[in-house]
Formats: sequence, C-alpha cells, structure tokens
Amino acid sequence: MNLVLLGPPGSGKGTQGERLAAHSGVPKYATGDILRDAVRRGTQLGDDAKRYMDAGELVPDEVVLGLVREALSTPDAAEGFILDGFPRTVAQAEGLQRLLEERGIGLDAVVYFDVPDEELIRRLAGRRSCPNCGAVFNIHSDPPSVTGTCDNCESELVTREDDREETVKNRLRVYKEHTEPLLRWYGESSVLREVEAVGSLEEVYGKLLGVVGDS
Ligand code: AP5
Repeated sequence: MNLVLLGPPGSGKGTQGERLAAHSGVPKYATGDILRDAVRRGTQLGDDAKRYMDAGELVPDEVVLGLVREALSTPDAAEGFILDGFPRTVAQAEGLQRLLEERGIGLDAVVYFDVPDEELIRRLAGRRSCPNCGAVFNIHSDPPSVTGTCDNCESELVTREDDREETVKNRLRVYKEHTEPLLRWYGESSVLREVEAVGSLEEVYGKLLGVVGDS
C-alpha cells in the first residue's frame, strides 16, 4: 500500500493515519511531525523551518522533498508507506512522482479528507498534543482520561503554536491556495478517493478503510 493522505489542517489525516499505520503495519511519514521533531531538537533544519511553521506558511518545497526522499529510502518503507501532509504543492507532487518513478513504483491511492471549515476551526482550537510522545487529543471529541495530561506518558499536554486563531486562518488560506489545486492534479489520474471525514473517529476510520480497500 502506497498511500497519500491529503486534506486541510485539522481534517484528521494524522489521527486516522496513525490508526491505519498501527493496524496495517505500514509506516506513516508525516512531514509536519518530522519538522516539529527537528524544531524540538534544535537542529539546523528545525531552526530554518520554525519561522515558516509558526506563521502557518509552507516550508520550501526542496526542504520537504529532501525529507521525504530520505524517509522513503529507509528499509521500512520498502513494502509500502503512508504519507501524511505531503505533498502539499504541485511542485511537491511532481517531485514525489519522480521519486516513485526512480523506484519503479506508483501511488495506490490519494485519500482526500473533506471537512467543512467551521469544523476544522473547532477541531484545531480543541486539539491538545503531547510534547513528549506526540499523542494527539481533543477536548471536544477525544479528551484524555485526566484533563491536560497525556494518557500514554503522563506529560502535560500543550496547544500547538500554530493552532492559535490567527495562524489557523493563515493555514487555511495557504491550504486553499497551494494544496487544494492538488485535487485537480490527482483527479486527472484514477488514484484520488474522497472521504467525508466527519462523524466519530470510528466512523471516519470505517470510511477510510472503505476507500483504501478499493485501491
Ligand atoms: P502539519 O503538522 O502537517 O499540519 P496540517 O496539515 O496543518 O495538519 P494538522 O496536523 O493540523 O491536522 P490533521 O489533518 O493531521 O488533523 P488531526 O488528526 O491532528 O504541518 C504543520 C506545518 O508544518 C505546516 O503549516 C507547514 O509549515 C509545515 N509543513 C508540514 N508539511 C509540509 C509540506 N509538505 N510542505 C511544506 N510545509 C510543510 O486532527 C485535528 C484535531 O481534530 C485533533 O485534536 C483530533 O483529535 C481531532 N479529530 C480528528 N478527527 C476527528 C473527528 N472525526 N471528529 C472530531 N474531532 C476529530
């Protein structure tokens, strides 16, 4: 299974991708997670990426393409992969296509998570993340057992820097301008699948399995 999860911020790509990776054993690579990890570790990549991420802007294409090239070169990715949050521009999609062609493989499905803007804003305002293990919760739909505390490692949960209201508005604008055109780009091939990603986490997962099963 070679899969891309595509959709606006807060549409549930990370949440559902985690489930799918855990159940299928196929590794998931999320460019946002890789970049946030670099920021946390204070690497050169993290320092360079932080200003774009804090502003809700996209990190330059060549930087993320380099990260994905590296991820897909690992032995873990040889039997399949789930890409979450990449590609996000037509240039990234073209770069991915070249990368896959070099390996003689293609995408089985590009799954588009469709969620109305008001719901995205509600989800992002309610998201709480664990800075230690990366687990993601939501005060409305998926609260931790103890308020403010990670179920997995008991660290204090935080609100992501880029989940502030003004930054969320910019992320949605950037999504519509740079990422939404990918729907037409992938729509020209037969790999694009659409999931109406509203409802409970279980319901959305069922819909995801439904479309991935077709690929
Ligand atoms: P990234 O981390 O990729 O952020 P994103 O795409 O904006 O996506 P999110 O993580 O916000 O949302 P999600 O769809 O994963 O939703 P989630 O499952 O968490 O990117 C961050 C930044 O990094 C970018 O702005 C950019 O600067 C940079 N970057 C990353 N990739 C890049 C690239 N390729 N090119 C350039 N720059 C890049 O769910 C959200 C919340 O909703 C959670 O709290 C969850 O619990 C809840 N939830 C999930 N499903 C449901 C449901 N069905 N009902 C109710 N609540 C739900």
